[in-house]
Amino acid sequence: MIRTMPSNNLIFLIFRCTLVITFFNFPTTIAQNEDRVYFEYLNCSANRRSLTSTYQKNLITLFSSFTSNASAKLFFNTTILGRNSTVYGMFMCRGDIPLRLCKQCVANATEKLSTGPECNHSIEAMMGYAECKLRYSNVPFFSIVATSPAYLLTNPSYVSNSTISFMIFLRNTMNRTAEAAADSEARFSTKEANLSHSQTLYALAQCTQDLSPQNCRTCLAKAIERLPTCCDGNQGARLVFPSCNIWYEMYLFYGLITNNPPKRLDPSPGFSSSSSSCSRDLEI
Ligand SMILES: *[C@@H]1O[C@H](CO)[C@@H](O)[C@H](O)[C@H]1NC(C)=O
Ligand SMILES: *[C@@H]1O[C@H](CO)[C@@H](O)[C@H](O)[C@H]1NC(C)=O
Ligand SMILES: *[C@@H]1O[C@H](CO)[C@@H](O)[C@H](O)[C@H]1NC(C)=O
Ligand SMILES: *[C@@H]1O[C@H](CO)[C@@H](O)[C@H](O)[C@H]1NC(C)=O
Ligand SMILES: *[C@@H]1O[C@H](CO)[C@@H](O)[C@H](O)[C@H]1NC(C)=O
Ligand SMILES: *[C@@H]1O[C@H](CO)[C@@H](O)[C@H](O)[C@H]1NC(C)=O
Ligand SMILES: *[C@@H]1O[C@H](CO)[C@@H](O)[C@H](O)[C@H]1NC(C)=O
Ligand SMILES: *[C@@H]1O[C@H](CO)[C@@H](O)[C@H](O)[C@H]1NC(C)=O
Ligand SMILES: *[C@@H]1O[C@H](CO)[C@@H](O)[C@H](O)[C@H]1NC(C)=O
Repeated sequence: MIRTMPSNNLIFLIFRCTLVITFFNFPTTIAQNEDRVYFEYLNCSANRRSLTSTYQKNLITLFSSFTSNASAKLFFNTTILGRNSTVYGMFMCRGDIPLRLCKQCVANATEKLSTGPECNHSIEAMMGYAECKLRYSNVPFFSIVATSPAYLLTNPSYVSNSTISFMIFLRNTMNRTAEAAADSEARFSTKEANLSHSQTLYALAQCTQDLSPQNCRTCLAKAIERLPTCCDGNQGARLVFPSCNIWYEMYLFYGLITNNPPKRLDPSPGFSSSSSSCSRDLEI
């Protein structure tokens, strides 16, 4: 299916995902060959017919530099120069995952981009998994804050009492997490905060590393601003922009990739659209 992507990146994308994402309990230890990556969204430009063969060649070069670099780093951006066929590309893996999972995620993504029916030979594309996201374009986008399209998943459980004070608590915790991420070299941070004796809030924030600390702060602040509307009272949510993302839950969900039973996340009704990449059931 052909998808369009506006070059100004200003339109806030709304997803209507009819899918139900079901998380199964993970075994407490997962062998290396049992690692899985979880596809979330794909957004490709429609103007693939105007692709020149040199641009296509540059895409192939880009994808192979993605896969080779993903075994060494969690973030990578590159420019493949060409006469009227320059391509800019980057991938980012979640800051708390091992490189082997990053590599697998990027490999999975580039394969889908190059041979899948959705995007092959698109001039530009954005793609996200729970573990990594990729983006390429013929227009330079490094260092620029992009907050659209947005992708949202919410935990369907709600905090049981005092939503207002929870949202304030969430905002403050997210703010501290975001500030720490912006100031860190990796543009990544996690924090936890005790809501009560028995309840702990876990928060994660990450920007793509091409962003300056100030731009990272700007991007994350825009994500945090959306929390009261997107996620009022939700016990967990993941809001993903091209340039940054935030995630919070009332259980430990980061850092323990091999010992991490995620709970159910539903796409939020507020974020909907007809996205074929979202319209099938995913098993997670
Ligand atoms: C891609 O993004 C554009 C605008 O941001 C939107 O119109 C289109 O539906 C998106 N495609 C998918 C598959 O989400
Ligand atoms: C990363 O990609 C670049 C091309 O952009 C390539 O020259 C380099 O060898 C790659 N690095 C690794 C570790 O594969
Ligand atoms: C670059 O490619 C586009 C699309 O194929 C074409 O319209 C344009 O004239 C080309 N520009 C140059 C400088 O060759
Ligand atoms: C990509 O991930 C899906 C789902 O986890 C899996 O079925 C597929 O084999 C993977 N492909 C690659 C190339 O890793
Ligand atoms: C995508 O790639 C497959 C195989 O590589 C090819 O059969 C198919 O026609 C391509 N689709 C588009 C839209 O280019
Ligand atoms: C919310 O409920 C929990 C128990 O579920 C309780 O410990 C806590 O004090 C309550 N908080 C408020 C603000 O009512
Ligand atoms: C939260 O409470 C636990 C004990 O209930 C304590 O060990 C932990 O240090 C507290 N964490 C924070 C961030 O205050
Ligand atoms: C990667 O992004 C930075 C901006 O943060 C930019 O200065 C640099 O040129 C990019 N690297 C490549 C190889 O394009
Ligand atoms: C955190 O809060 C401070 C004070 O309200 C604000 O100036 C800053 O922009 C916030 N940072 C983020 C990333 O939201």
